[in-house]
Amino acid sequence: MSDQPKPLTTLDVVAMKRAGKKIVSLTAYDALMARMLDASGVDLILVGDSVNQVVAGRPTTLSATLDQMIYHARAVQGAVRRALVVVDLPFLSYQVTPEEAIRNAGRVLQETDAAAVKLEGGVTMGPTIRALVDRGIPVMGHVGLTPQSVHALGGYRVQGREEGAAARLLADAHAVEEAGAFSVVLELVPSALAARVTKELAIPTVGIGAGAGCDGQVLVLPDMLGMNPAFTPKFLKRYADLDGTIRAAVSAYAEDVRAGRYPGAEHGFE
Ligand code: KIV
Repeated sequence: MSDQPKPLTTLDVVAMKRAGKKIVSLTAYDALMARMLDASGVDLILVGDSVNQVVAGRPTTLSATLDQMIYHARAVQGAVRRALVVVDLPFLSYQVTPEEAIRNAGRVLQETDAAAVKLEGGVTMGPTIRALVDRGIPVMGHVGLTPQSVHALGGYRVQGREEGAAARLLADAHAVEEAGAFSVVLELVPSALAARVTKELAIPTVGIGAGAGCDGQVLVLPDMLGMNPAFTPKFLKRYADLDGTIRAAVSAYAEDVRAGRYPGAEHGFE
């Protein structure tokens, strides 16, 4: 018998909603972290275009490129045995025409072996989602705060608070489902509205800053590991203080090197 776990598919993720099982999701951008997440039982690993801010240090996700996403996704997919890997389509790789979206999403699947892509937008992206799904490319939607539209939205703020905005968000989520997406991220959405969307949709919702009523939760890994102490949004819970741990380890190493304590005799070769 093989000890190889069965890789999760998009259909398995949809089935988790029907079975009432919460979907556990985190971002990963490299093989090292992806291996740990997968071994810890994370269901869905998102190669988010947040990599452009978190790893590349850019101010927004807008300058992420398709080649950059493919580079990170290939590293993640290669390290994962069970989790479903979903790759963000970067800004301008899918908004111009459905044909470009097919070509670019197709490249992601072909060059990374990942099984699905994620794109931002609701009603306006419906035809693009449909074009991808009809060609065998599974799509995860993303509505609410859509970071690729940060300049149009006037910042990273909660969406759907006013009546009209809530109705539009609901329509966006339904449009994503009707276009054939297998799931949808709800980002920075009031908890009651996210719970309503979750109830009305047959596909799973995965929330970030959208309350406990979603079918699953996603966080940006370095944020939840406490590697980014300056980032303190209300929705974030830190599960570790890696900033403190890493600084302490590096200081200890520096002290050892300066004092001649490292390397010790046991670290040398005959
Ligand atoms: O890019 C990303 O990491 C995301 C998550 C925040 C959902 O889209």
